[in-house]
Amino acid sequence: MNALNIVILAAGKGTRMYSDKPKVLHALAGKPLVQHILDRAVELKAEQVCVVYGHGGDAVPQAMSSYGANFVIQEPQLGTGHAVQQAMPHLEDNSRTLVLYGDVPLTQTQTLQQMQQAGEGLVLLTVNLDNPTGYGRIVRNAQGAIQCIVEEKDANNEQRKITEVNTGILLAPTKKLREWLSKLGNNNAQGEYYLTDIVAMAVADGIEVRSTQPAQRWEVEGINNKSQLATLERVWQQTLANKLMAQGVTLADPERLDVRGNLTCGRDVEIDVGCIFEGEVKLGDRVRVGAYSIIRNASIEQGTQIAAYSHIDSSEVGANCHIGPYARLRPGTKLAEDAHVGNFVEIKNSEIGKGSKANHLSYIGDSTVGSRVNIGAGTITCNYDGANKFRTIIEDDAFIGSDTQLVAPVRVGKGATIGAGSTITKDAPDNELTLSRSKQITINGWKRPQKVKK
Ligand code: UD1
Ligand code: CA
Repeated sequence: MNALNIVILAAGKGTRMYSDKPKVLHALAGKPLVQHILDRAVELKAEQVCVVYGHGGDAVPQAMSSYGANFVIQEPQLGTGHAVQQAMPHLEDNSRTLVLYGDVPLTQTQTLQQMQQAGEGLVLLTVNLDNPTGYGRIVRNAQGAIQCIVEEKDANNEQRKITEVNTGILLAPTKKLREWLSKLGNNNAQGEYYLTDIVAMAVADGIEVRSTQPAQRWEVEGINNKSQLATLERVWQQTLANKLMAQGVTLADPERLDVRGNLTCGRDVEIDVGCIFEGEVKLGDRVRVGAYSIIRNASIEQGTQIAAYSHIDSSEVGANCHIGPYARLRPGTKLAEDAHVGNFVEIKNSEIGKGSKANHLSYIGDSTVGSRVNIGAGTITCNYDGANKFRTIIEDDAFIGSDTQLVAPVRVGKGATIGAGSTITKDAPDNELTLSRSKQITINGWKRPQKVKK
């Protein structure tokens, strides 16, 4: 089969978004609309990808620069046919060209593969609508063969009754496409160069024109305003939720889950309401995630329980840990199995060993914590002197009393105990009690200050 090119039309202004950002850079499921389509191009192993953009300066090419695509500007915008023409210099004749849309983000790879398999000629993706108003109509002859597409504004009354409409997505032999586009005129109701006019040209050239249909209607729905964006977001989230449930994941409410990336789950995973998963997240067998937790780019091993309102970012959590409620694991956190991290504990760029606990109100940053360590309430690692960051080492079986400040760089030895309320600035030896605390005194007969009478 011939190589595949993909042309993504993304030059429309998006006036109804009422935004300074180009329409195709607005996010669905956490990524720009156009990126959804660029990801399709990767899955389809497209040889050449060409994005036709128009508004927002270089915002689109800049945002999508990591994709090996060509970006061509269409200025002025004289119609869909004119838009595809801008891409043609980048496309080789001996190939097929698939036209997709930057504001139609959810066209599925399978649907596009089906188009590739439908025929060697011109292939259109069409849908039947109860209300076809506004769309180009697919005109067929008595034998059911496609003859042309007529735009709503150019259609007669008979043609307007046709319910099969053009989604805009089509696949064409590149050499022919180039020929047809060069012959386009703009003598129509809108004075535009219509891509759809190539259909009648193909018929005249004796090139077979076929059609396929997407499995779901939402695959071809476009976005013109924030309301359509929100609607399609919900459709997509429901689809992802259904997929997870089909794999056995228990969702307290499939309508209150947001996945902005890839969520992979083991067996018997349970997710309570309002959780958000971003980037690559892996949940092992029997992991439970409490309500309103936010987890980004993290792996959570089997049996770990995450209580409500916990935030986990770029972290690795071992098996059978207890996290939260209200815990915050920041980038670079690694918890070994059986670790406990309780409410209002923040951990950053630190390793916490097996069975260690920090259950209340602590900050642990740039630290290496051994196994079976107990970190008392209110412990703070002072890792920053205002200019540089330093590490804190806490060895196995240490016990850090409540309200301790560990001023890094500092080491607490194996089995060491730190007395509550200490400010530790020097290394604490193994197996000894270390504390820094002024002696408790009582001032007999001391009186509280009295309010001065005026
Ligand atoms: C187009 C189709 C119509 C189809 C409908 C589906 C044509 C002539 N008509 O109509 O048959 O039913 O889509 O939604 O193709 N664009 C550019 N440059 C331009 C013009 C458009 O990049 O100069 C892009 C827009 O950003 C948009 C897409 O092409 O993403 C469709 O353009 P639009 O003007 O909305 O076409 P329709 O009139 O809806
Ligand atoms: Ca449109």
